[in-house]
Amino acid sequence: MKGIILSGGHGTRLLPLTKVTSKQLLPVYNKPMIFYPLETLLKAGIKDILIIVAPEHSDDYLKLLGSGKQFGAKFTYEIQDKPEGLAQAFMIGENFIGKNNVCMVLGDNIFEDDFSKTIKNFKSGGQVFAKKVKDPERFGVVKFNNKMEAVRIEEKPKKYLSDYAITGLYVYDHRVCEAAKQARPSARGELEITELHNWYLKRGELKVDIVKGAWFDAGTFESLFSASEMIRKKI
Ligand code: G1P
Repeated sequence: MKGIILSGGHGTRLLPLTKVTSKQLLPVYNKPMIFYPLETLLKAGIKDILIIVAPEHSDDYLKLLGSGKQFGAKFTYEIQDKPEGLAQAFMIGENFIGKNNVCMVLGDNIFEDDFSKTIKNFKSGGQVFAKKVKDPERFGVVKFNNKMEAVRIEEKPKKYLSDYAITGLYVYDHRVCEAAKQARPSARGELEITELHNWYLKRGELKVDIVKGAWFDAGTFESLFSASEMIRKKI
């Protein structure tokens, strides 16, 4: 299993905090934000990790994370020239992934859960993780049937679909690179990760688990503050 941390974008929702630095380098209580998704991968035993960053701050990431040796891991870096969607990570990372399975985590997603068992047991297909939220319209949303099987997934649905947001942790087999190449830009001009979930869902190969502990997409002032608060209480 290879790992990817996608840490691109301009973080415009957090301006002026992100005027001179990357969103995923901002502090979440006592650590830079990216340390948390990195720990999610390391805890699951993933040691070969591609870190995809925006060109403006690539030097800061190198300075902070280096070769990966201090984390007992090996880091590789790639640049995402423009924030053209999460699915693009699997085009940028195609050579890195090769014929391996891959687990991608977003650089601004903070999880309390330990996913190591699920990630270690993963064989093929797609595996995503959902969490009930109050503001599903901000996220990719999954609708379940009464057996809790996913039946529909939509990116930021305008009409209410369900309360379950798909979090920023994704496990796929190597066919995800093929699926990413088939994706077409959405109305907001991005290659949506939701298209990749749907690629697997259509084939009956997508599993959706429920996240039990806290989860934050720390991309807004509110969630950034709440994430810091949760970490402070835990340590
Ligand atoms: C992205 C994904 C969305 C997912 C969310 C999790 O949204 O497109 O499906 O629910 O991450 O953090 P974005 O942060 O690009 O708005």
